[in-house]
Amino acid sequence: MGNRRGLGLYLIFVSIFLVANTCSCLGVENTSIVCIEQERLALLKFKESVIDYYGMLLSWVGNDCCMWERVHCDNVTGNIKSLHLKGDMRGDIVGVMYYLVGDGMSFSLAELSHLSYLDLSGNDFGGSRIPKFIGSFKHLTYLNLSHAGFQGIISHHIGNLSNLKVLDLSSNDGLKGHVAFHDTIVKRVKFVRMWTLQC
Ligand SMILES: *[C@@H]1O[C@H](CO)[C@@H](O)[C@H](O)[C@H]1NC(C)=O
Ligand SMILES: *[C@@H]1O[C@H](CO)[C@@H](O)[C@H](O)[C@H]1NC(C)=O
Ligand SMILES: *[C@@H]1O[C@H](CO)[C@@H](O)[C@H](O)[C@H]1NC(C)=O
Ligand SMILES: *[C@@H]1O[C@H](CO)[C@@H](O)[C@H](O)[C@H]1NC(C)=O
Repeated sequence: MGNRRGLGLYLIFVSIFLVANTCSCLGVENTSIVCIEQERLALLKFKESVIDYYGMLLSWVGNDCCMWERVHCDNVTGNIKSLHLKGDMRGDIVGVMYYLVGDGMSFSLAELSHLSYLDLSGNDFGGSRIPKFIGSFKHLTYLNLSHAGFQGIISHHIGNLSNLKVLDLSSNDGLKGHVAFHDTIVKRVKFVRMWTLQC
């Protein structure tokens, strides 16, 4: 008799434990957004493409790229929405200098098709051109490539950025643009800061 009651209580406890556990698991699963694997790999390729003397990308390890510094994901879909990769070559911002050095903007970034904010200013992209794929970021509203060592003719593809509100291409010596591109951008974008236009 005593044993039976004991077993009954035990079973009730076990059931409560199981239910509680299942609920908390579902809860955890639901509150955290998870990084999209393809986008994580794209970020890792970008990381490989630059020299990171100052450890700006040290937190870029592990599976959940939404937890990495300078990366923000959409809180519903998990897609990467913004990349805050501003460098500071003179240590003006926090008194310490930090910036990335690379031969150009890695093509892997094209994978981040949901990007709405991209700041790569203040780094050293070694006199490379602004790539054509920049025009493929349909959702981009903010683009800052100032002080980043870009040179050459800007691809007219940048004119495809139909949601762009802020564009800063200033302080890239030797950057040149087509007048046609200039006209499209100036008509559409609310804030533009550019180089002294050489056509
Ligand atoms: C997670 O939450 C959303 C709403 O925030 C809901 O629609 C969805 O059904 C939930 N998923 C699970 C597995 O509980
Ligand atoms: C998701 O992000 C939007 C803005 O990006 C914010 O307004 C909203 O409150 C966020 N939702 C949750 C559940 O954090
Ligand atoms: C772009 O970045 C530079 C340097 O990092 C900063 O000084 C400037 O204000 C930024 N431009 C815009 C429009 O936010
Ligand atoms: C920009 O638009 C033109 C014309 O619609 C298209 O041919 C080109 O592929 C687009 N470029 C990018 C990078 O999406």
